[in-house]
Amino acid sequence: MRNSYVESDKQYVLHPYTNLRTHQTVDPFIITHGEGIYVWDDKGNKLIEGMSGLWCASLGFSEQRLTEAATKQMQKLPYSHLFSHRSTEPAIELSEKMISIAPDNMARVFLVNSGSEAVDMAIKMVWYYNNALERPRKKKIIARKRAYHGITVAAGSLTGLPYVQDGFDLPAIPVMHTATPHYYREGLPGETEEDYATRLASILEEEILAEDPDTIAAFIAEPIMGAGGVIIPPVGYFEKIQAVLRKYDILLICDEVICGFARTGEMFGSTTFNAEPDLMTVAKQLSSAYLPIGGVMLTEAVYEVMEKGSDQHGMFGSGNTYGGHPVAAAVAVETLNIYEERDIVNHVKGLSGHFQQGIERLAGHPLVGQGRSSGLIGALEIVRNKETKVQYPVADKVAAQIANFARDHNLILRPTPGDSVALCPPLIINEKELTLMFDRLEASLNDMQQQLD
Ligand SMILES: Cc1ncc(COP(=O)(O)O)c(C=O)c1O
Repeated sequence: MRNSYVESDKQYVLHPYTNLRTHQTVDPFIITHGEGIYVWDDKGNKLIEGMSGLWCASLGFSEQRLTEAATKQMQKLPYSHLFSHRSTEPAIELSEKMISIAPDNMARVFLVNSGSEAVDMAIKMVWYYNNALERPRKKKIIARKRAYHGITVAAGSLTGLPYVQDGFDLPAIPVMHTATPHYYREGLPGETEEDYATRLASILEEEILAEDPDTIAAFIAEPIMGAGGVIIPPVGYFEKIQAVLRKYDILLICDEVICGFARTGEMFGSTTFNAEPDLMTVAKQLSSAYLPIGGVMLTEAVYEVMEKGSDQHGMFGSGNTYGGHPVAAAVAVETLNIYEERDIVNHVKGLSGHFQQGIERLAGHPLVGQGRSSGLIGALEIVRNKETKVQYPVADKVAAQIANFARDHNLILRPTPGDSVALCPPLIINEKELTLMFDRLEASLNDMQQQLD
């Protein structure tokens, strides 16, 4: 086996979300193989993948049925496409299956290759929709501060994290960023969660009125904000926000790229939080991340207007070479079959209490201000002072240091903006593995505490 991967990586690989200069002095963390919820690095360490990679490898790292589904399809038809009335059996089967498990009002699917592409496509659909309705001014999109919707030009414009936009001339589409629904940080003294949600909805309404409702096309929201820090909306949030959106004829796009497919203990996060989206974007757990695939689901009402648009323009003029790729689609179909056979929703529901207990136990740690969780996704927000919620200076990167300690304890977790550490383990995890994961996280918090003392 070659032994020069480390040097070749530094020499040739341009890494996403990495300081390019620092990478020249830090050895890459090379993952070589995986089994169940574990991955191994090139030094032989066996780590719990507490983040399912990037919130995606729901079935862990050794699901043979997905390997077999890919092989079978690869041998039968490795490539075809969906342009100009052409189709494939896996793309048809997948679309039908997605609609069968989606909230009732979802009716059609457009397949793409990633979460960012799904978000870009959803935005294009919303614009196309308003053009078909002869509302050419109704184009602005409302996203939220700390949202993560991806990195392509439209998706990156919607993302509300400065490091995704800085240096890239983003936002490049008309977008407004409204408040992050973070009760622990933003709730006022004495304000209930529900009051806070009411206040957020009235702030939103004021912003819409100030901007002119006739210029606003859609509101995009992750049911739980993932990369922004696993921020769980306050009670009643989506109901109240959606009442405002309906009043001004503004579509709701739920970005289900992380929450979709049982992460929150329901098939979709929209269901968990009582949102009724007009469009939904999905990716990641759709194929357990074994192959890249994503999609936009939409209601019949939106679809019918788009149909009218395609009459006006001669066609729906958008598509990707690999959109609905037959091998990725076959893997996604098999993933959804496995979710169904193993009743993944109830499996997650059954484990969510145990997960929540782990989070609550560590919320008692001196370094933790708040622990939050839903289904099998959660985070601990790190504070210097539990009473005042004052945090450590951003430059201290305490959450990132905890993630480094966790690595020493053979646990992969993720530091997020707002000094939280996130957990999002493969959905196939069991109680014993969850306990081990939280024990390792506790040891990492203790290491951090010791260093700070
Ligand atoms: C909610 C959400 N939307 C969109 C994306 C972008 O997906 P991708 O990285 O596949 O482009 C992500 C990625 O983490 C995400 O979390």
